[in-house]
Order: sequence, then C-alpha cells, then structure tokens
Amino acid sequence: MSVSTVSIGGSKHQPNAIQLHAKPSATFPEKVAESLALLQQAVANFSPVTQASSLGAEDVVITHLINHNDLNIPIFVLETGALHRETLALLERTQAHSQAPVNVYRPVTEKVIAFVKSHGQDAMYESLDLRKACCQVRKLQPLAEALKGQRAWVTGLRREQSRNRAEVPLIDRTDEAAKNQIKLNPLANWTWGDVWHYIADNQVDYNPLHDQFFPSIGCAPCTRAISLGEEFRAGRWWWEDETAKECGLHAKN
Ligand code: ADX
Ligand code: SF4
Repeated sequence: MSVSTVSIGGSKHQPNAIQLHAKPSATFPEKVAESLALLQQAVANFSPVTQASSLGAEDVVITHLINHNDLNIPIFVLETGALHRETLALLERTQAHSQAPVNVYRPVTEKVIAFVKSHGQDAMYESLDLRKACCQVRKLQPLAEALKGQRAWVTGLRREQSRNRAEVPLIDRTDEAAKNQIKLNPLANWTWGDVWHYIADNQVDYNPLHDQFFPSIGCAPCTRAISLGEEFRAGRWWWEDETAKECGLHAKN
C-alpha cells in the first residue's frame, strides 16, 4: 500500500484517521441534531432500547452521544472470541469510562469448541456455508440473547458504507410485525467525514486499527486493511463476492 505522509512539528508521521478523514459535510450540525432526536425518541417511545456496538468508529460516536446526553440506552458488544486485541482493549476502556452500562455477550464455549473441532480454525475461508455457520455460533446466537426483551436496538449502519446499505432508513420496521422489534440507525445519513469530524471534535476514544487503514472492523480472521481506492467494506470477508458480505446481523439491508 502506498501511503502519503504529512509533516507535523517538523517530523514525518503517517497521518492518523482523524487527519485523513475528518471533514464535516455542510449539514453536519443538522445531522447531529437528527441523530440525537432519534435517540431521544427511542428512549421516549421504544424502550427498552439498547445500542449494538462493534466499537468501530460509528459506534463510538453513538456511545458518546448516549453518554454525553445522559440517555437511558445500555450498550452491548458481541465478543465473538475472535476480535483483535486492539478492539478488546477498547472494550475494556469503554467499560471503565462509559456511564451507560456496557454488556458483553459471548458465544457458548462448547459450541465454539465443537465447531472448531469439526471444521478447523480456518473454516470461514473454505466455503460460504462454513463462514455463515461460524457467524451463526459466534455472532447471531449471542445477538439473539442480547436482543431478548428489547423493543428496539440502535446500530451504526450508514448508507454510504456499501451498495447493500444504500437505503438504510433511520427507523427500520422490517422486523416489527414478526418480533415487535425495530432497528434504529441514527447515523444513516452521515458521511465518513462526519464520523471523524465528530470523533475529533469530541475527542472520542477510538480503535487504533482505524489508523492502520481498517475502516470497517469485525473479527480478526475476517478483516484486513484496505488499500487506497478500495471500497469501504473491501477488507471484510474479502475472499467473498460483494453480495455475500454480510454476517446476518443486517442481512436484509
Ligand atoms: S457486520 O454485519 O458487517 O458485522 P458492521 O461491522 O458493518 O456489521 O457493523 C454494523 C453495525 O452492526 C455496527 O455499527 C453495530 O451496530 C453492529 N455490530 C457489528 N458487529 C457487532 C458486534 N461485534 N457487537 C455488537 N454490535 C455489532
Ligand atoms: Fe467467524 Fe469470521 Fe463470522 Fe467472526 S466474522 S463469526 S470469525 S466467520
């Protein structure tokens, strides 16, 4: 990857994610107001509501909005057992500093052991079915636990992230009839520049992998850095084709 350097205080540094990306759109203040209004509406009308956080850039923004505005929205993290050490360290810092509770959901150990015993550590690279089976054990079953009894959940999905997500609504009622559950996407309209402007402006702690060209961060075996010019989610399940690149958390989007 060829990466340009910037000169800070006379010495050469690789630019960090803030220096590379922070650039608010013209309507940034209105977007922040829209997101906050949606979160307030969630507390008033859709409680109990919880935030799903992967500890990625979008999610740390939402957690900051929740804490900064004293919103009654607990946070949950699906700790799949395959996250990067940088993500685990950020999880610890978030648990230490967040006023809102941070609940961690993990897969059932016996199921992970049985899966690895049957299919090996690298099963996800062998076939789409095995990759999805791994996501089922490590992500989707813990997600079902996390969402039990919740009326709504908040995610960091943005329209700009991929073609699959180009029509993500602020309020997604797809599952309302079947599960009496709605999904809220307060950053649906934000750009990547908006996300990093907010992080810079509010000095939000973030995953240092973002400084190493990981825009989208999932499990370690299934996430790589991207090169200049590659799409936002190119580093996720990079061996699969574009249409398969969802783990099931947000398959309908
Ligand atoms: S994924 O479906 O491909 O993994 P992505 O990483 O883009 O999703 O994240 C989209 C949103 O899904 C995040 O903003 C967050 O709300 C939720 N999410 C993803 N991974 C996790 C996780 N490990 N724990 C909790 N929420 C998650
Ligand atoms: Fe398994 Fe990869 Fe899915 Fe994580 S993203 S649950 S490691 S297949």
